[in-house]
Amino acid sequence: MSKLKINSKKTKSIINRNIYGHFSEHLGRCIYDGLFVGESSFIPNENGMRTDVVQALKSLKIPVLRWPGGCFADEYHWRDGIGPKQDRKRMVNTNWGGVVEDNSFGTHEFFELCDQLGCEPYININLGSGTVREMSEWIEYMTFDGVSPLSQLRVENGREEPWHLKYLGIGNESWGCGGNMRPERYADEFRKYQSFAKSFGHSKLYKIACGAGDDDYNWTDKVMEIAGKHMDAITLHHYTVVGDWGNKGSATKFTSKEYYAAVKEALKMETLISTHAKMMDKHDPKRRIGLIVDEWGAWHNVEPGTNPGFLYQQNTMRDAIVAAATLNIFNAYSDRVVMANVAQTVNVLQAVILTEGNKMVLTPTYHVFDLYKYHQDASLAECWVETQEVGEDEARIPNLSVSASIDLNDELHITLANLSHDTASSIDCEILGKNCDSLSARILSGKMSDYNDFDSSNSIVPVDFSDFCRTGMGVEFEIPACSVMLIAVK
Ligand code: AHR
Repeated sequence: MSKLKINSKKTKSIINRNIYGHFSEHLGRCIYDGLFVGESSFIPNENGMRTDVVQALKSLKIPVLRWPGGCFADEYHWRDGIGPKQDRKRMVNTNWGGVVEDNSFGTHEFFELCDQLGCEPYININLGSGTVREMSEWIEYMTFDGVSPLSQLRVENGREEPWHLKYLGIGNESWGCGGNMRPERYADEFRKYQSFAKSFGHSKLYKIACGAGDDDYNWTDKVMEIAGKHMDAITLHHYTVVGDWGNKGSATKFTSKEYYAAVKEALKMETLISTHAKMMDKHDPKRRIGLIVDEWGAWHNVEPGTNPGFLYQQNTMRDAIVAAATLNIFNAYSDRVVMANVAQTVNVLQAVILTEGNKMVLTPTYHVFDLYKYHQDASLAECWVETQEVGEDEARIPNLSVSASIDLNDELHITLANLSHDTASSIDCEILGKNCDSLSARILSGKMSDYNDFDSSNSIVPVDFSDFCRTGMGVEFEIPACSVMLIAVK
């Protein structure tokens, strides 16, 4: 029996809703097919945006969407994506499959999508192959509320009012696909670019610097030292990869050891956040600057027969466990992590939605986001769980992961995941400050390699769970192997 203790009266930081954010890049079928099908498509759409996908994302309460990349951002030229569609300049998407991008989804379409989703836009500008002028003109085009040649151009293209834009990323993976720079060089570039990123009207820009990949702590140290005072946040990217980049293993056919290796890799997020945060503290002891994990998720081999440059992969209960454990870590570090963006929203990497023609599948990862959405803007509550080590050989992990929060209506939400794929766990849950009379729960569970597919889209869905035994201080129950549970107490 493992003890789980929640103190609903002891709250810590507010869990920023943006921790439940998403990332959508011009990569494979994320934008085209996944989110945007165009107005003349036979697939039901509103102004070109897929109605089914928009509805599903709205139901997750998607708070923020990052666009246009990723590596694509550093070769994106915004002027190619405005004006009459037939006149838009085409380009080769050199990073992702070498396909020809017709720029039919550009600035106006992105803001239309965010409007329909009711989420904040997060735009990542091109520092790698763009110019300061290109960036500052884009900002003026989007947000200037007076009369200028650029705001007039926006009006000519059909948008009278300036858009509201807060989140501005300056460069992406500038240590890699975004220019292969050294941190000193990038930090100076950031200082220069941000000087010309002007806030107009209601849009007070929140300037985001490109941070490290994985454990490159030197990058964070140097960029914070040189450019810290000019930024509002710095990023971190960490993907869950098993094996090597050349052969990451199948998304659906894997061994027990590969399962544990993936979850272990995902759990590294905790060390990465705490160590990068220490580097940040060194230069920003008052903690003004936020940490944004704007790319995270499991990265497997592509599905056989699909374009290797499109990064299309299936999504199993293993991915759901990766998501559950990762989101619990973000909650736990919500005093530092102000945003996170799962890579990517639709049809790419650890997608929450897969599409095929007019069909749509909600992945197990989607259902984890659905169970966890109650944490958005809630106060993290003190909690602790007793764990046992599970796994194989060097792939060993604790068997349980948890977080808890109190929302604005004083409702407690506990998200508990059993990371063992084959052993259930008995839980003795003690809840201080709440009466368990009104307790309810939902659970997502399955075998580690179970997934939803186009011909069986509801194999893995959350169901009600009521197998609780009341105790003096709370409840006892058994959480099945490989499952994610949401417990709500009014
Ligand atoms: O998400 C896919 C790619 O991964 C992004 O374009 C890039 O930033 C990262 O390397």
